[in-house]
Amino acid sequence: MRFDGVKVTYYGHSAFKLVSPTGKVVLIDPWLDNPLAPSGAKSSLDKVDLILVTHGHGDHLGNTVEIARKFNSTVLAIYEISNYLASQGVSKAVGMNKDGTYVFEGIKATMVDATHSSTIDTGRGTIPGGEAAGFIVEFENGFKVYHTGDTGFTGVMPIIGDFYKPDLLMIPIGGLFTLGPESAAYAVKLIKPRWIMPMHYRTFPPLTGTPEAFREALDPEYREKLIVLNPGETAE
Ligand code: NI
Ligand code: MN
Repeated sequence: MRFDGVKVTYYGHSAFKLVSPTGKVVLIDPWLDNPLAPSGAKSSLDKVDLILVTHGHGDHLGNTVEIARKFNSTVLAIYEISNYLASQGVSKAVGMNKDGTYVFEGIKATMVDATHSSTIDTGRGTIPGGEAAGFIVEFENGFKVYHTGDTGFTGVMPIIGDFYKPDLLMIPIGGLFTLGPESAAYAVKLIKPRWIMPMHYRTFPPLTGTPEAFREALDPEYREKLIVLNPGETAE
């Protein structure tokens, strides 16, 4: 088992489900009705313990409000987004900020820096969403996932690699709004993960980066660590 008992399901774009070794269900950026998501992704969930939101853009905030209300999930987000979620009836919205850690039933979630913007579309206009972020999730057995959120290069990538030592890196490769294949491949060398999953590609035509171009750009030692999931697939 490459992921030490953690099960990872990809829903397309930047949306993932992580099931911990003790069965806790964590969603990251749950836009479960994105154009690439398998049909019935939302209705397939029977519990959601924890949701992590990297920033306020609709393709990441996604279905957070309805899912959190349905399952009474705890939601971690930067302070400004947590206030918005609370105003929308999310009763367990927890505000935090960068390099802060929240411990949820043995799972440690640390918010880390990302280089990107963040606004929230309220349906009646757009409000500031604080800053964009990523998350390091450390499971009960120590396995660590680093979901960068939407980002370009950040100065802390080498620090994250050295200090947190992530096992599995989820990194955007689509370009235009984020890193693309070549720059993401360079970022991998700064972060030094054991495993790599590309995200934030093919959802819309402007996201032109592909897993093939990413694989080509990776240093050979990292190519065998690349795991490309199709939407709906699970790896462990
Ligand atoms: Ni974004
Ligand atoms: Mn995005």
